[in-house]
Order: sequence, then structure tokens, then C-alpha cells
Amino acid sequence: MALTVLLLVIILKTAHFAEAATTSFLVNCGSSSRSVNVDGRAWVGDGAPGTNFTLSDPGIPANTTVFNGDSIYRPLYSTARIFTANSNYTFRVPNGDYFLRLHFYPLEFDGYDVNKSSFSIEANGLKLVSNFNVPTEIQDRSSNLQSGAANSTYFYLLKEYFFSVHSSSIIVNFVPLEGSFSFISAIEVVTDDSKLFTDNPVRRVNNGGNGNASLNLIGRGVETMHRLKVGGLPVKPSQDSFWWRTWEADEGYMINAAAGVEIRNRSNISYADPNSTVMAPLAVYETARSLTNNAGVSEKRFNMSWKLDIDPDFDYLVRLHFCELLYDKPNQRVFRVFINNRTASDNFDIYVRAGGMNRAYHEDYLDFISSESNTLWIQLGPDTITGSAGTDALLNGLEVFKLSRNGNLAYERKQDSVKGGSGSRSLVLWIGIGAGIASITIIAGVFVLIVCCCKKKDRKTEDGKKNAHGWRPLFLHGSVFNSTANAKGPNEVGNNARSGRRFALTEIRSATNNFDESLVIGVGGFGKVYKGEIDETTLVAIKRANPQSQQGLTEFETEIEMLSKLRHRHLVSLIGFCDEQNEMILVYEYMANGTLRSHLFGSDLPPLSWKQRLEICIGSARGLHYLHTGSDRGIIHRDVKTTNILLDENFVAKMSDFGLSKTGPSLEHTHVSTAVKGSFGYLDPEYFRRQQLTEKSDVYSFGVVLFEVACARAVINPTLPKDEINLAEWALRWQREGSLDSILDAKLRGDYCPESLVRFGEVAEKCLADEGKSRPTMGEVLWHLEYVLQLHDSWLQLQQNDEPGAVVVDMSLIAESESESLNEK
Ligand SMILES: *[C@@H]1O[C@H](CO)[C@@H](O)[C@H](O)[C@H]1NC(C)=O
Ligand SMILES: *[C@@H]1O[C@H](CO)[C@@H](O)[C@H](O)[C@H]1NC(C)=O
Repeated sequence: MALTVLLLVIILKTAHFAEAATTSFLVNCGSSSRSVNVDGRAWVGDGAPGTNFTLSDPGIPANTTVFNGDSIYRPLYSTARIFTANSNYTFRVPNGDYFLRLHFYPLEFDGYDVNKSSFSIEANGLKLVSNFNVPTEIQDRSSNLQSGAANSTYFYLLKEYFFSVHSSSIIVNFVPLEGSFSFISAIEVVTDDSKLFTDNPVRRVNNGGNGNASLNLIGRGVETMHRLKVGGLPVKPSQDSFWWRTWEADEGYMINAAAGVEIRNRSNISYADPNSTVMAPLAVYETARSLTNNAGVSEKRFNMSWKLDIDPDFDYLVRLHFCELLYDKPNQRVFRVFINNRTASDNFDIYVRAGGMNRAYHEDYLDFISSESNTLWIQLGPDTITGSAGTDALLNGLEVFKLSRNGNLAYERKQDSVKGGSGSRSLVLWIGIGAGIASITIIAGVFVLIVCCCKKKDRKTEDGKKNAHGWRPLFLHGSVFNSTANAKGPNEVGNNARSGRRFALTEIRSATNNFDESLVIGVGGFGKVYKGEIDETTLVAIKRANPQSQQGLTEFETEIEMLSKLRHRHLVSLIGFCDEQNEMILVYEYMANGTLRSHLFGSDLPPLSWKQRLEICIGSARGLHYLHTGSDRGIIHRDVKTTNILLDENFVAKMSDFGLSKTGPSLEHTHVSTAVKGSFGYLDPEYFRRQQLTEKSDVYSFGVVLFEVACARAVINPTLPKDEINLAEWALRWQREGSLDSILDAKLRGDYCPESLVRFGEVAEKCLADEGKSRPTMGEVLWHLEYVLQLHDSWLQLQQNDEPGAVVVDMSLIAESESESLNEK
């Protein structure tokens, strides 16, 4: 019954959308289906009979055989239309303002390799792209673009334009380059009757932030380059009921995300100007970054800085969205806005400009980017010249639009024409669906881990001091002590033949597209890490030592031997290596879901349930237990942290990055003596004091991981009040007071068995015991965690059987969506 009501609501909502969008065209290219419902709107196949638009040359409707992404637009992306000659779509429309979105999903279509496509697109005489090539998979950020999102490593590209129509039609013309072809996956044409852009004067940055200027929109086109929600989760198209815009998370664009503390406030936000309700959905204004947190504690000596890639030699409209979420009087937060290092506004007080607290407000700036630059810096910092109470800064959202010049919006990247362009061939930014830029971070993180850069120890001299240089792990998060090691050799590494697969250099070349720069996902002292594909199906991480790497061949081989012996379901495995022509290349399994940390905080990924978290903790505990006990002397990982726990496509946890690992003490010794290594925040204080390494140091770090999993915050967060900076200390205090639940990740509220949390806290506390000998072994930790999971499982079962409760929840949800749909009418 509840389901039926819910269904009805959905149907009603859909009908409502379809009705409201009568002046829009939603085209599912290459499809002949009459209508497919995606993102709450009905999309029409361009091959369906009786469409209300025309296609001059039908080209080739194409099906992709594989779709590996997981996007709401999936139904649209399995087909595309390919043109080997000029062709255009014509939409008859009333004159007015429109926006046009072009979706490209770059997979191989019926033998057409999109890597080889090259084309131009024009709309109503406006050149949109020129010599355009949609590459398949890249993590290239040096480009412009809006993008969609997918929960996987496959990507799609979304290009968005605004322009005025005076000829009662919109004609989108695809022009393939001689001998090449063009393709398109989906097209959206929607009226902009709400005036997203006007010729009202905006601040001109170049003139010292003073003079105003008009955008001169007549005859001009606009292209969206970036659309970011600052802080919190991104906004999906279906959550932006006016324009189905994607608001990406901003973190990946920040120079130092820690400089901006996320704040949020859901209550009573309204638009300062009732005519600007379409500028951004209220969700964008509910979160922000500021220089300080709610407790007012932080450094205010820094700017919050975002660095965005743009095309040289165009005018840009920068639209900043603000909403004062904290102060209910003026003069509490006064700051400066810098655009490309010039003052765009000073004495900026959101409260004053927006006319109060919780009022959504935006400000536009016009800036010209010279032909020498391909980046746009947006910075907010304290305004030192005012004598006001506070100099904090705050930003909620950020959009960058490119304005056409002489009918041209296309930018042709010439080889090396732009300083610092680093030979990038792409004009586009691809983003993992659902994950925004964070997915790039994740992928990079995955590689960091997959890379398992095992630093080799000197195996010949038992106590010889030696610089442990060579293949260094990459550390994206947190710093690592890295000093001279007093290393003992991994004696148990036998002289057996290496068990990994030996790759030919040609195989590695073809897996990485000849070490294509665009496939680089990590760089470190040792060289580069590439994402690659072997045997045409298997994704791998490929680490290639650069020729200057100081790691000797012997160490390289020892590393391969040792790593190929470590085989366990909960350890990331080495697939093989390549040592042809003095190359030193390692090939690791690819971990689709990235690091555990990326699923805990700092990204827009959906939160993990308590059950998932417990399973991940159990998996990694198993991996560590195996390391500690699996060989004669055991191996100490030495760098246990959430970025070294990787998740595969089924969220199975695997320990990775044994870059710092060491063989455990032999029987006659109780510890290995060594210089202190490891990551801040996870480091065993006893190890730090005595420089004696045992398995119990890993247990300590694992205890920190457990608290991190429960609290979903950074282990070291310098922007917090002093006693909260270090997670281990802070969480331990709460745990000892028996109130771990009060600092629990808010996303878990109500969704966990309280007793399981109590037990979980006890395990973590035991791991953090001051003295190693009072800490449990990994085997004991594992046992306790399994018990915790059992508690939670039986609680879940009880919840499910609790019928009346379940119905109450459902009904309230329905009431909510009903009132939502009513509001929309
Ligand atoms: C903030 O950025 C601007 C422009 O780049 C710079 O002039 C200023 O010194 C910076 N302020 C601080 C506090 O770093
Ligand atoms: C602007 O400032 C940033 C950092 O504040 C700096 O890295 C960048 O090079 C500066 N750009 C110019 C054009 O001066």
C-alpha cells in the first residue's frame, strides 16, 4: 500500500515535470524509443517516429556494447548518433533565451573509436567546439568543463551553453573533420525564461575592482566552465528542479581544503532577491566554507583558494554565491575577494549585502583572461584594513562562465601554446559520476595504495646503515616520517623464481597507451603511476620507476619476490612486473572503490552503513593478522591508515602500500630497532619514544583507524580547537567517558546497534593502550570485531521484523514527498 502511494507520487511528479517542460527538447540520440524516463524527465529517441524536431542527415545510430558506468543517464548513454558528414538537428522554438546541453559518452560504438573522432559543432552561427576530440578516459583537470558524474571509472562529458534565439529555431550543426566523424549521446534544449544572465552592470575585475561593465550579451553566447557547491555534498541534476544542473563538490579545486572549514545550516534560508530563485537551488546555500569553524577557532592568516582551469583569451563571468549562515548582525565577517590575484571586492560583508542572515545572494564579476593564462584563481581572505569585529570569509557556491568572442566559444589548444599546459590534449574535464572531483582523488588514492611501493632494505648487511631511497610511496594525505632506516633483511624471502607474471614492454606500452600522460594518476620520487588495461579487460595500476630512480635492480627483484608471495584476500596483490630494457615496472590489481578514507569524509561519496564499516574493519584486520602471522617472522606493516585500506568493487577491504613494511623480530629478539616511520596521527607513541617496532604498533594505528571509521573525521585536523586536533586523544577521552556515541559520524545516527558501538569503542580503546604489551593482538581484535558485527546483525534483524515501525517510517517519507511535489506546483 505504501509502495503504491509512493509510486503514485512518483508518477504524479513525473507528469508534472513533463508538463512544465513543454518548451524543452530532450533528445536521446541514436535511439528509436519514443520516450525514456531519466532524471525525472522524458527523453525522446531521435529515431522515433513523429519527433517535433528534424535531423538533416540521419548518420549512423549506434549502440555501445558495454556500459560500465553507473549514472542516472545510463539509459541515454547506451546509444549515440555518429555522423561522417555534416548534419544538423533543427528545433523550432519561440524566440528567447535558451540553454543547450550536449552529452558525450565516449565509448566505442559499433567499431567507431571515439578516440579518433574529431569535429566541430555550431549552434545558430555560434562556434561551440572546434577540432574537438572526446577522449575516453582521462583524469585531466587542465581543462574547462562541466561534467556529469558516475560511480565508476567511466566518464561522460557534458557541455552547457546559453544563447538567445532570434530566428525561431535552434540549429545544432555537427561538422566532422575530413576523414573523421562526430558523435553525440544526448541533447537538451530548454528555455531560459528566468534570465540567468542579463546586461545589468557587473564588477569588472581588471579595473582594480572598481569600474562596472556590461556583459554585452546581444549576439554573445555563454559556456559554463565550472559550477561548484562549496562544502558538503554535490547537488545532482534531479535536485536542481529549475535547470537540472550539476553542482560539483569544490574540494578537488581547493589549493588547501583544510584552509576552508565546512559549515552548514539548513534552517530558514530564503532568497535575498525573490527574482533570483533560479540562480541556484537553496541546497547550494546550505553549506559553505569559512576560515573558521563554529567555535571560531582557526587560523585567519590564509586565503581560501580555488584554482580552476579555463581557456586563455576569453572574457569570463565569475558568479559567487553567498549566504551568511552564522552571524545575525553586520560587521562580524568582513573579507576580500580576489580574482586572479586582483582585488575584486573588499570590505565584503555578506550580512550587509544580502540584507540579513540566511539570505541567499550572489555577486557577478567580469574578468578578462589573457592568452598567457589558463587558470583562474578565486581567493577569499581576511580584510585587514577594516576595523570590524571579524575578518572571517565565507563562500557557498561558485560558477565560471565563458563569454564568446566574435561568435566563437571554441578554444583550440595548440601544442605548447600555453605555458604550463603540459602537453595536455584534452579540452575537457571528466568526472566520475556521483563523485565529482572526489573520484579523481579516490582514483589517485587507490593508486597510491595499489602502488605498494615497497621500499627495499639492504639485505646483505644485517645492521648496515643505509639510505632507504628509491621507490617511495606517494602520500596524498598526511605526512610521513621518512628517515634513514636501520634495516634488517627480509630473510624469509627465498631465492625462488619470481611468481608474478612477466610483462613484455610492448604489453605495458599498449596498456598505458604508450605511457600516455593523461593516464598518469600518481607521481612520486620513484616515477609515475599509470592507470592501464591489460588483456583488453583488466584494469590495473602500473608503477614505472623513472630511469633516474636510485633503486637498484637487485632491490627491484627482491621486491617482486616478496610481494608476489604475499597473497591474501585482504591484501592488494601484485599482478606482475616488467624488467625489459632496464625498465622497472610493477603491475598491481586495480581497486575500483578507492580508499576507505574517501568513503568516510572529504568526498561526496554516499556514506557507508555501520554494517559496511564493520565488514571493512574486519577485512583489514584479517589482512593485518595475515601479515603478522602468515610467515615465519611476520611482517609489520608500519603505515596502517585509512588511505592504505583499499576497497574493491564489492567493498572488500584490502591492505595496501607495504612501502614501509618490515619483517618482524626474529625469535631471539622482541622488536626490530628502527628509525621512526609512519604517518602523523596514527603513530604509536611507544614506538615513537623507544624506536622499537613490534606488531603492536600496527595494532595502535588500527585503533586510530577504528575511531576514524566511527567519527568520520581527519586524524589530525589543525583547524579544530586544540583538544580536538588529534582524533586518537579526543576520541579516547569520549570513549573513556562512555559517550563515544556523542561524537559519532552524524550519518550513522539511528542506524546502528548501540551495544555494538559500545563494544567497538572498547576494542578501539584497547588498541590505543599506552604500552604495546597491553594491546590485543590483531587476532584478538579480529575476534572482537566479528562479535561486534554479530551484535549489529541481530539488531538489524530485529529492526526489520519490527513491522509497525517500518510502516511509520514509510508513511512519513511519503508525506514528505507529497508535500514536496505540491510545493513544486
Ligand atoms: C590572498 O590572495 C591575494 C591574491 O593572490 C594576495 O595578494 C594576498 O596576499 C593573500 N592573502 C593572504 C593572507 O595570504
Ligand atoms: C596568484 O596567486 C597564486 C597563489 O596565491 C600563485 O600561485 C599564482 O602564481 C598567482 N598568479 C599570478 C598570475 O600571479
